[in-house]
Amino acid sequence: MQIRLDRTSRVPLYRQLADQLRRRIASGELPPGTRLPPERRLAAMLGVNRSTVVSAYRELAAEGLIAGHVGRGTVVVDPNRRPGAEAPARGVPWPQLFAPLASALYDPALEDASAAASRADVISLATGQPAPECYPISMIRQLLDEALHSQGARLLQYCPAEGYPPLREAIARWAQRSGIRCSPEQVLVVSGSQQGLYLIARALLEPGDLVAVEAPTYVGALQVFRALGARLLPIPIDEFGMRVSVLEQALEHRRPKLVYTLPTFQNPSGTTLVLERRRRLLELAARTGIPIVEDDPYRELWYEAPPPPPLAALDTDGTVVSLTTVSKVLFPGFRIGWVIAPWAVVRQLTLVKQLVDLDTNPLMQWAIWAILERGLLESHLEELRVTYRERRDLLANALRRELGDALRFALPTGGLYLWCELTGGLRARDLLPEAARRGVVFAPGESFFVDPAAGRSWMRLNFTYPNPTALVEAARRLSHALAAVREAREFVRRATTPIV
Ligand SMILES: Cc1ncc(COP(=O)(O)O)c(C=O)c1O
Repeated sequence: MQIRLDRTSRVPLYRQLADQLRRRIASGELPPGTRLPPERRLAAMLGVNRSTVVSAYRELAAEGLIAGHVGRGTVVVDPNRRPGAEAPARGVPWPQLFAPLASALYDPALEDASAAASRADVISLATGQPAPECYPISMIRQLLDEALHSQGARLLQYCPAEGYPPLREAIARWAQRSGIRCSPEQVLVVSGSQQGLYLIARALLEPGDLVAVEAPTYVGALQVFRALGARLLPIPIDEFGMRVSVLEQALEHRRPKLVYTLPTFQNPSGTTLVLERRRRLLELAARTGIPIVEDDPYRELWYEAPPPPPLAALDTDGTVVSLTTVSKVLFPGFRIGWVIAPWAVVRQLTLVKQLVDLDTNPLMQWAIWAILERGLLESHLEELRVTYRERRDLLANALRRELGDALRFALPTGGLYLWCELTGGLRARDLLPEAARRGVVFAPGESFFVDPAAGRSWMRLNFTYPNPTALVEAARRLSHALAAVREAREFVRRATTPIV
């Protein structure tokens, strides 16, 4: 939840908080049934006294907008049950009009982390962004200048929905580097791979369809599938990637519409599907006719050795739809990604894309075309690999030094994240408010699982976005937060242990 409190304002903090929550409830951003963060946790996130949150909640409860329930906490009240809601005086009763999509998108754990991350004093390990210091800004400035000089208005008009034709050709050539053989007609340029994922899901899924996903998996994918009414079939992973044998067993009784996988430097776990399992997965897809969606944003960010070929390169039966993005290797703000798929799939996704945004920004497509065609990406990737390996090691060493065996993790050989398990039965959600109070946030593990309980003790830490000094400081702050949570637990344990 993005809450911004202005400490210089004459409006009391509790009133500012109540106003912002009221607006979000009215707009449907906080739909009925949404659980608001506990008072103490929200207070820690915002860096205010608990009484501020208590007063704000009290005001909203008095208006009938929220209500406290034993065991469920504070919840946004269904407008139909609000006093006076049956007969709205004037205006549009927005929340009553919304399709049941919004509640699928609300993730309190991630909202808590992003609320705290917006504070200037907080180091965010919760994000999935590249290092801003590594952005090749002057290269982009020159390219955009050249684009506008040489192409003029042409790059400011609409372009074909499938993508800027020279870029589709360049992508088909670039894909050959990792062994993918495809024609430009099999490439669809999209506004970020998140859009690609949405288009695929929109084109293939109907409410009630089953989707097999890894446990854990990328949050944005879970949200897309849930929002479209899909049911989810979690398949566990181990250090060799998805346990394909478990999927195989599940397929004896159930038939998912598609299998969504991140086989290379998985988000969040960093694991890579080994070659033998890649082949087995493809064989399964070909045999059962169930397509595989391969989401592959991290492939180029390897720190030890290049990863095995993508599923799309090993596929001989047209079972794979693959997704790639420039967000993790250049700039997330460019919003450029691509889908490579059998031609019939590209055609169908293009029809859906036309409904969503007509086409992808042509100026940015031209810039990516120039970067690929002039060989500018390869040298940039080499720099990133060095910088990110150093940052990975820095954070890993700082965590080992500061937290010892309180945190367990394997060193990932690529990608952007350390996937860590809190030992001693501690929950990441309990650590988050304490960490936020001390100026560091992370992505709590439960958001990455179909069954949140499975991720209770896990947390994802990004090592690319904060600079080296911030990474070391983040580990220090985490260890202080952990000590405080343990101390509080110990206090409660002692207070509740009967004296005999
Ligand atoms: C696995 C995965 N897929 C897709 C995305 C979204 O990428 P994009 O910025 O291209 O939409 C991300 C971003 O974190 C991701 O981790």
